Amino acid sequence: MSTPPPLAESTPVSVLFVCLGNICRSPTAHGVFESRVRSAGLTGRISVDSAGTGDWHVGRPPHKSTLAAARRRGYELEHLRARQVGVNDFDAFDYILAMDLSNLADLRRMRLLRASSRIGLFLDYHPDANLVEVPDPYGGGAADFDRVLDMIETTSDALLKAIRTRHGLLLPPDALASQPD
Ligand code: 4NP
Repeated sequence: MSTPPPLAESTPVSVLFVCLGNICRSPTAHGVFESRVRSAGLTGRISVDSAGTGDWHVGRPPHKSTLAAARRRGYELEHLRARQVGVNDFDAFDYILAMDLSNLADLRRMRLLRASSRIGLFLDYHPDANLVEVPDPYGGGAADFDRVLDMIETTSDALLKAIRTRHGLLLPPDALASQPD
């Protein structure tokens, strides 16, 4: 993925997580990454959303096992509602990160030629280069949902670090505001 151009001070860096149904993996990444952004004092500087390539679950909250696994680690995902990726997303988001290779192929098929977002695999940011896909936990047990969360937590930390470095968000906004010229 190439380094994006510097953004205007007031424009948040925007990140969209994408899976198939938008009820298991991408809403988990949405909630975990948003929580990391909040803890870093970067709410308003980084915006987060999630969507599915499929439309089966549009309007529904995350899967009950996704909600339960997230709650066990202190993440509340109840307010999220599934939506489908649309063509406008390819201009609206700086980063569109797919959970698996099939999601990535679907996104590349959908992407308009003029679209500006950087599309890639979420796990490209995981420190273990051997990991490529977040496995689909749909229909699995609690351990499968926990494993998804493990991968998403580790990757979210690394993704936030990468975005902070690339976009000059190395200090919290208050500290940035008080920096001398
Ligand atoms: P997700 O998991 O892509 O991580 O949300 C799935 C959810 C639903 C289905 C497939 C995967 N489904 O076939 O309905």
